[in-house]
Amino acid sequence: MTEYRFHAKNEEGSEELGRLLAGVLSPGSVVALIGTLGAGKTRLVQAVAAAMGIAHDKVTSPTFVLVNEYVGGRLPIYHFDTYRLRDEDEFIELGPEEYFASNGITFVEWADRFENCLPPERLTVRIEVLGAQEREFIISANSGYYEAAIHELGCLST
Ligand SMILES: Nc1ncnc2c1ncn2[C@@H]1O[C@H](COP(=O)(O)OP(=O)(O)OP(=O)(O)O)[C@@H](O)[C@H]1O
Ligand SMILES: [Mg+2]
Repeated sequence: MTEYRFHAKNEEGSEELGRLLAGVLSPGSVVALIGTLGAGKTRLVQAVAAAMGIAHDKVTSPTFVLVNEYVGGRLPIYHFDTYRLRDEDEFIELGPEEYFASNGITFVEWADRFENCLPPERLTVRIEVLGAQEREFIISANSGYYEAAIHELGCLST
């Protein structure tokens, strides 16, 4: 298990992490996002999308849509919100396997609710709210490809 911690003093800090992530993720990556309401899960997806060249105003919280697809950037981005889903069956009905197997980057908000439905190999980003704008990101992985991505992230940010 490899872990990397990133401290963001404010929203610009989170945006910087999004840029770094965009640089180390490759086609087919799956990112599990964990954090309370308003922690900044959607904000991080926006930052990655912006770094991929997708207009910021296109990226909104998918709370009502459940899956948003952002295309036109360097890689397609798929963004699941699972907050309103009642159970694993409802998640599976959205067809996540197809997204996981695609060449895009797939983000899943509230991933801790659907761990059994996620690919075993994935990047996990846990967001802790430390203050009005202060956040701690704990990024972890337990497989070779994502561990390498985390190492790269550590090198890029120093
Ligand atoms: N350092 C920060 N990083 C991210 N967002 C921040 C930060 N500081 C303040 N914010 C604010 O916190 C909010 C984060 O909202 P966001 O929609 O990204 O949260 P979320 O985790 O996706 O919540 P939800 O579970 O409701 O989908 C935004 O209003 C943003 O402006
Ligand atoms: Mg959100």
